[in-house]
Amino acid sequence: MNIVITGGAGFIGTHLVEKFLEKSHNVIVVDNLLTGLKANLDNFTKSKNFSFIDLDVQNHIQIDGEVDYVLHLASAASPKAYTDNPINTLKAGSIGTINTLGLAKAKHAKYLLTSTSEVYGDPEISPQPESYWGRVNPNGVRSMYDEAKRFAEAAVSSYNRIYNIDSRIVRLFNTYGPKMKLNDGRVVTNFIVQALNGEDITIYGKGNQTRSFCYVSDTVAGIIKAMDSESNEVFNIGNPNEITILQLAETIVQLTESKSGVNYQELPDDDPTQRKPDISKAKNILDWKPDIGLEEGLNKTIGWVKANLN
Ligand SMILES: NC(=O)c1ccc[n+]([C@@H]2O[C@H](COP(=O)([O-])OP(=O)(O)OC[C@H]3O[C@@H](n4cnc5c(N)ncnc54)[C@H](O)[C@@H]3O)[C@@H](O)[C@H]2O)c1
Repeated sequence: MNIVITGGAGFIGTHLVEKFLEKSHNVIVVDNLLTGLKANLDNFTKSKNFSFIDLDVQNHIQIDGEVDYVLHLASAASPKAYTDNPINTLKAGSIGTINTLGLAKAKHAKYLLTSTSEVYGDPEISPQPESYWGRVNPNGVRSMYDEAKRFAEAAVSSYNRIYNIDSRIVRLFNTYGPKMKLNDGRVVTNFIVQALNGEDITIYGKGNQTRSFCYVSDTVAGIIKAMDSESNEVFNIGNPNEITILQLAETIVQLTESKSGVNYQELPDDDPTQRKPDISKAKNILDWKPDIGLEEGLNKTIGWVKANLN
């Protein structure tokens, strides 16, 4: 297949590109390197099947030749990145989604959008099934990300209804693993770096908010199953193993054999109190479930962070 992937220089995108090249697909990455790294692509540039277009997805995307699949991942994704780049985040989710859908329409290509559990906002129900509409603050401090993704979902759904675009949406829950940026403020890398440096672990609030962490190879397997599926549905892709942020900190301190304590900071506005995916739909329709347990995934991630911490 000829696959166009926006955001392919980022954390999850790089893992997907690796898989596609292993399967001998032709891969075109479209990325403006806002949060992704050119160095992430170094291993791929040797491949004749790989090419890179340095472009912001808010611009027209010109691709010569046939395209079989468009995957739209491009977006700031960590709270630090979208807080620092609110307008670009809104444009990547809105104009970028329309542009990538236009490309899929012009090329008669299949389409996949990576949405997020953040479309559920601060949910009143747990676990969250795809049928839950969410509770999002439309003008709060996270709204540039949450609402951009909600718009993106609406755009994909309309292009599917009106133009019969063969599309699917995956709502990813917190994903972690090797190749995450170490300084973009995501909780798993923050805690590992602080634990390895013997610094106190920064916890916002009391640490009793819950999250569900999915190892990156499981997330990537879920995305590929959704790509291959005939279904034009929305799927939660995440690990239902829900833990509190304090438990995550304690686990990381124990696995790194660190002596770090905890430094409690004020809880930011609109921080969700709970996150747990209902993955019955992905299990039933995609025959997908996560395989990597938290300690196994954290150990792999800790090993990678140790090797990459300067
Ligand atoms: N990692 C997670 O836990 C998680 C959870 C839910 C959803 N997601 C979604 O998965 C996708 C990938 O996330 P990630 O964790 O790999 O993030 P990432 O920041 O590592 O990768 C995002 C990539 O998109 C690129 N990008 C951003 N804005 C762009 C623009 N305007 N034009 C072109 N390129 C642009 C960045 O340079 C980067 O390479 C995102 O859509 C994100 O919303 C991720």
